[in-house]
Amino acid sequence: MKAVIYTKYGPPNVLKIVAIEKPQPKEDEILVKIYATTVTSGDVRLRGFDFPALVWLPVRLMFGLFKPKKEILGHELSGVVEAVGNAVTKFKIGDEVFATPTLLDTGAYTEYICIPQEREKGVLGLKPKNLGFKEAAALPVGGMTALFLLNKAKLGKGQQVLIYGASGSVGSYAIQIAKAQEATVVAVCSSSNFDMVKSLGADRVLDYKKEDYTLIDTKFDIVFDAVGKTAKSDARKILKQGGNFVSIASLTNLNQEHLNKIKELAETEKIKPYIDKCFPLAEIVAAHEYVGTGRKKGNVVIEVTK
Ligand SMILES: NC(=O)c1ccc[n+]([C@@H]2O[C@H](COP(=O)([O-])OP(=O)(O)OC[C@H]3O[C@@H](n4cnc5c(N)ncnc54)[C@H](OP(=O)(O)O)[C@@H]3O)[C@@H](O)[C@H]2O)c1
Repeated sequence: MKAVIYTKYGPPNVLKIVAIEKPQPKEDEILVKIYATTVTSGDVRLRGFDFPALVWLPVRLMFGLFKPKKEILGHELSGVVEAVGNAVTKFKIGDEVFATPTLLDTGAYTEYICIPQEREKGVLGLKPKNLGFKEAAALPVGGMTALFLLNKAKLGKGQQVLIYGASGSVGSYAIQIAKAQEATVVAVCSSSNFDMVKSLGADRVLDYKKEDYTLIDTKFDIVFDAVGKTAKSDARKILKQGGNFVSIASLTNLNQEHLNKIKELAETEKIKPYIDKCFPLAEIVAAHEYVGTGRKKGNVVIEVTK
């Protein structure tokens, strides 16, 4: 089967398409034929090893000091169960699934992957019925991260929420999750993305290149930094007393409950993945080049199987 591997950190062309052996599911695993995956900004950072100096060494020790420990990238996927191990009870052949293989020792840039049915090692669920494979693949990382951070910020009904960097993957889900709680949402992004964020529900838009968002005439229950590019000290200027600042730069702890909740939000049409571009697996280098510009809107999908 085909897989995209990287054996050294570097520019997009370190990614190589190779033939590797198709995996066989263990007792407690399902074998998934992957239909779609994505290029997240996390994939791009890991490939190029683009981390701040303060965390460079610990992250490098975690992911591979001299070369990547995990040669296959890809943090989210959708596909169809092709085989199941003898002890598998929760899934059957033919089930359409979506997952994040972040905790496994392999990623999703490949045609087949084995995933344990149990939660501890992977996060896995039946694909939302109303989403296609491309949309479902783009749901886990951005959707779960936005949900985790809005829960951490104690999102409540009808609050005032400002989302800084609202046009990326995390930001696009954060707008929709906040709107599902009837929040009033101010989206900060560049003017070229105003239509996009309004289509996702933003009530008001601000261009960070033209206006200082900390001078806005409103106080917020939540300021959510979805791109890690604004400071808590700035956000504090527009927070209500007791309001919360959250940022994607903090650690997240995503689990099965988050996946179940975003599936429910998708199936009740409260959230919908925004897809910017879709590339075939053969064009993975071009897809990484594009995401590496830092200008993607929402999500970039890789079609693995037509
Ligand atoms: N902690 C976690 O678990 C976790 C999980 C997922 C992602 N992340 C991190 O979250 C960050 C965002 O990822 P993402 O995939 O959602 O988005 P992304 O692809 O990294 O961001 C793209 C968007 O960022 C906007 N942007 C760029 N510079 C900006 C600035 N100075 N101010 C405001 N907006 C700006 C761009 O909009 P314009 O063109 O309008 O500028 C573009 O739409 C990444 O750093 C990623 O590594 C962390």
